[in-house]
Amino acid sequence: MATGTPVGPAVGPPRLPLVSVRDLSVAYDDGPVVLDGVDLDLFPGEMVALLGSSGSGKSTLMKSLTGFAPITGGSARVVGYDLTNLRRGQLRDVRASVGQVFQQFNLVGRLSVLTNVLTGALHDAGPVNLVGGFSGVHRRRAMELLDRVGIAHKATAQARTLSGGQQQRVAIARALMQRPKLILADEPVASLDPRMSHDVLDLLHEIAREDGIPVLVSLHVMTLALEHSDRIEGMRHGRMVVSAPTARVDTTDLAAIYDDEGADGDVDAA
Ligand SMILES: Nc1ncnc2c1ncn2[C@@H]1O[C@H](COP(=O)(O)OP(=O)(O)O)[C@@H](O)[C@H]1O
Ligand SMILES: [Mg+2]
Repeated sequence: MATGTPVGPAVGPPRLPLVSVRDLSVAYDDGPVVLDGVDLDLFPGEMVALLGSSGSGKSTLMKSLTGFAPITGGSARVVGYDLTNLRRGQLRDVRASVGQVFQQFNLVGRLSVLTNVLTGALHDAGPVNLVGGFSGVHRRRAMELLDRVGIAHKATAQARTLSGGQQQRVAIARALMQRPKLILADEPVASLDPRMSHDVLDLLHEIAREDGIPVLVSLHVMTLALEHSDRIEGMRHGRMVVSAPTARVDTTDLAAIYDDEGADGDVDAA
């Protein structure tokens, strides 16, 4: 199958990152620097695990990618937009292009599963459709997505009656309803038992691969990250200290992310 072109099949066409962050700093008013010189690229189709102790800046990094955290330095290109130089209306476009999944699912519990998924189309449908109901096209797509995430049989149930794992699947279907160019999942399995955690991470990984969407997923269980990601980005005290393909991550990398560094000056010299 050799084509004689200079780029071999193992290399493939050049891939452009959907997210490109350079030397990013974030600080809240009158507070300390929360992110300090962070670099991050996310490419189509990859599942990237964001690791770091509590307070290291994982959520803040995700928030900064959708304009919910104050960028004080550096640059951030997200789905084609320069977040430090947005024109009127563009922040809305960025947010419409980024599907988000949260630890607590953030469904409206008294509404049906189907309606929860349909709210993912609100960016698209607009206020008129909110009053008049969603179109048949949207409804069909929502049902297809529920089928894809394996809970079409629950479409008419109230969201609050589902198990945690099922609710997270609804939240993922809702994110897909946006036709996202990027998915950010902040601790999506922190409220789930181990088996459901694996199932939900498998689903996110499959979406990354099949739809060519980058998925950035923060996790606090390292073994889940090692099993379910293509690449690991590790944060510590607001800095990115590890960035490597998952298969190449070793104990030195993990120590750089997690080891206690003796902040009080009592580092064991042994
Ligand atoms: N809205 C905020 N105002 C001030 N400080 C904040 C705010 N949000 C987060 N921080 C601080 O930023 C740091 C990183 O927090 P966070 O991004 O939530 O970490 P992680 O998600 O890794 O646990 C913490 O020290 C936290 O207290
Ligand atoms: Mg967090």
